Amino acid sequence: MREFLETWPLEFLGILSLLVFVAFIVGVIGIAVLYIVDVTQTAHAVRRNFPVIGRFRYFFEHLGEFFRQYFFAMDREELPFNRAERAWVYRAAKNVDRTIAFGSTRDLSKNGTIYFVNCGYPTLGEDAMPNHAVTIGPYSEHPYTTDSVINISGMSYGALSKPAVQALSKGAALAGCWMNTGEGGLAPYHLEGGADLVFQIGTAKFGVKDENGQLSEEKLKEIAAHSQVKMFEVKLSQGAKPGKGGIVPAAKVTPEIARIRGLKMGEDAISPNRHPDIANADDLLNMVNHIRQTTGKPVGFKTVVGTYDWLEEMCENIRHRGIESAPDFITIDSADGGTGAAPMSLMDNMGLPLRESLPAVVDMLCRYGLRDRIKIVCSGKLITPIGVAWALCMGADFVTSARGFMFSIGCIQALQCNKNTCPTGVTTHNPKLQRGLVPSDKAVRAASYVQNMNHEIGVIAHACGVPEARLLRRKHARMVLENGTSVPLDELYPEIRNEGVSTIQKIDHL
Ligand SMILES: Cc1cc2nc3c(=O)[nH]c(=O)nc-3n(C[C@H](O)[C@H](O)[C@H](O)COP(=O)(O)O)c2cc1C
Repeated sequence: MREFLETWPLEFLGILSLLVFVAFIVGVIGIAVLYIVDVTQTAHAVRRNFPVIGRFRYFFEHLGEFFRQYFFAMDREELPFNRAERAWVYRAAKNVDRTIAFGSTRDLSKNGTIYFVNCGYPTLGEDAMPNHAVTIGPYSEHPYTTDSVINISGMSYGALSKPAVQALSKGAALAGCWMNTGEGGLAPYHLEGGADLVFQIGTAKFGVKDENGQLSEEKLKEIAAHSQVKMFEVKLSQGAKPGKGGIVPAAKVTPEIARIRGLKMGEDAISPNRHPDIANADDLLNMVNHIRQTTGKPVGFKTVVGTYDWLEEMCENIRHRGIESAPDFITIDSADGGTGAAPMSLMDNMGLPLRESLPAVVDMLCRYGLRDRIKIVCSGKLITPIGVAWALCMGADFVTSARGFMFSIGCIQALQCNKNTCPTGVTTHNPKLQRGLVPSDKAVRAASYVQNMNHEIGVIAHACGVPEARLLRRKHARMVLENGTSVPLDELYPEIRNEGVSTIQKIDHL
């Protein structure tokens, strides 16, 4: 033993040198193999011209995304959401201090910037009022009344993970807002939190189709039998991919998701780019009325607006059929909305952003006397109080958000929703990655996010001199134009008052 102890450092060094030598030889052989592979392959020019070293390009490109986000991007620089916006949501969700110091880091003279106009005598805290309730679907058997302004936009179980759906459904129940199921059908995890739900019917009609792929009355009734399901939304399109159906890549289709949707394993879940049975305004209204009669619940539709003629045609049609035939709500999604997966050309350049489509649709409904009948829900990057307050000024009744709620439960904008690799567990079905997302904790975060949003929208409303956020009007905000000066929104988008109840009047008569 003593002998060994005296000699072991020498033996240890011998073994270590041998290992280093073997590693060196293996490394040299490995590099030689990569070199031969790279110079002989024909697919990648960089690797063919710069064998082995060329491979680092992919590695750095991948790392660049993370380095930019953490080290190099300025607070207001990144897209789709910059650090300042994300940080606000994180702090609201964690219910910690959301004040900032020294001064705004935002360039306030930029074209399109919104200024809310504070009045001389803001509403005192004791005069503030809670947001009043709004009823959707007065002609349905079970109208839905809610005072919730901010709600969870459609994201399917499939695009989202099981713990994410659980966290959001519980969070929505805690906050008293609704959650939209997205187009993937109704999962038990939507129900288990106890929140109000909007059941979305996508173009593939997942969860409500019969064996021939047609809309099934029986299945509609089954869904409507859940008292939590308050409304139905027919999805015509979404902002990130107008004219393209939903996509859930095969890597994310688990046996359970396949069962809920009625799919085969190993296949991408691709929905048609249009409801095959909705080809014009008549079809649309027939579908809305059919679902409303079958389920007894309010029915609306979701769309990103491109052209306006088909909406005008629908309004004309409602005039002939009668006001009760109208959809109970329209959800307008912005062209810069999010998605689990979409082609870049549609995501970048198809459809109109909400700042154009929201006022146009509100005004169109006013012109046709439908503004009070059809409630307006809108979505599209409205993840901080500023965006929501703007939407209320423009005439929205409700706001929904998808990515705001994703941030609230831990999303870090890793931009991997279309793979199965989301590092925060929000959009992956890999159980190892889901471990980090604990639904009970994140539910509280989602709820705090809603509560703090509502609080701060209230603060904006009070500064503008109205006692609650739903009383914000176009006159309460201005927009900066190209020449750097701002104009009131009610001058840019004058109120339409002729036939219907105008944006101003719609609340005041209540
Ligand atoms: C991961 C993910 C999944 C989505 N799934 C759906 C869906 O199933 N149905 C739908 O209508 N919209 C879907 N959307 C779009 C959102 O509902 C929403 O309209 C859009 O992201 C704009 O809101 P935001 O800017 O707050 O995210 C999805 C968005 C994301 C990010």
